[in-house]
Amino acid sequence: SKVADLVASLRESDTAVVLTGAGVSTASGIPAFRGEDGLWSEFDPKAFHRRRLDADPAGFWADRLELRERLTGGSIEPNAAHEAIATLEAEGHVDAVVTQNVDGLHREAGTENLIELHGTNEQVACDDCGRRTAAEPVFGRAAEGERPPRCECGGVLRPDVVLFGESLPGEAIERANWLAHRADWFLVAGSSLTVAPAAGLPGRAARSGATVGIVNLESTEKDDAAAVVVRADVTTILPAIERRV
Ligand code: OAD
Repeated sequence: SKVADLVASLRESDTAVVLTGAGVSTASGIPAFRGEDGLWSEFDPKAFHRRRLDADPAGFWADRLELRERLTGGSIEPNAAHEAIATLEAEGHVDAVVTQNVDGLHREAGTENLIELHGTNEQVACDDCGRRTAAEPVFGRAAEGERPPRCECGGVLRPDVVLFGESLPGEAIERANWLAHRADWFLVAGSSLTVAPAAGLPGRAARSGATVGIVNLESTEKDDAAAVVVRADVTTILPAIERRV
């Protein structure tokens, strides 16, 4: 079977890397971005654009509060896919996890070598001095009317995520590129692979000789780069890999 193929190549690999997207967190109650029930059909991506933060920081924060409420309305916890990925690392099978998600669930599940390509919603950063602090208290201040919340230096605070219109942190991209190049086993889980540069990582891994696998409910833009495509739920396939390896 396809899972057996992935398990066999994982057993033989020296450097195994997992790339995740919104699909690993849907089972935790966080909607994906694209598709019918996607966040971008509910929220206007322009509201979270770099230009909006500059032009209307108070409005940006009001919308961001609404988004956070939507995302953490229930209690959000890691699911079987996050847990299996963390166990694979703890048992020495997986070397690193690269995620496009900003929900912090991989870290909560125990993944240690984690590259958060798009930043994290668990922190805020000062747009002027760059100082980072925990997000929760700052969202609390914003909810009480401090919009935009400000840093001690006077600068506007913003979620420590990559906004539309911003470039990704160079160091994170370099590490991710290097890992993709070095990997001999590279698994994509729950991503449509539509957003660069993450979408380029499986091709990069394949070109340098990795066995590339994709586990996703729908077809992705990069299925051609993969030796194994499993069209199934990450919360069943990742635990199956973890149990059998
Ligand atoms: P997408 O929403 O584009 O794709 C998520 C994919 O996961 C879809 O193809 C779903 O079919 C699949 N999926 C959903 N639930 C699944 C499950 N339980 N098992 C398997 N597959 C499942 O999300 P990303 O590819 O992560 O960027 O999107 C990439 C980036 O686009 C995001 O990081 C975000 C967005 O704009 C920024 O915010 C910078």
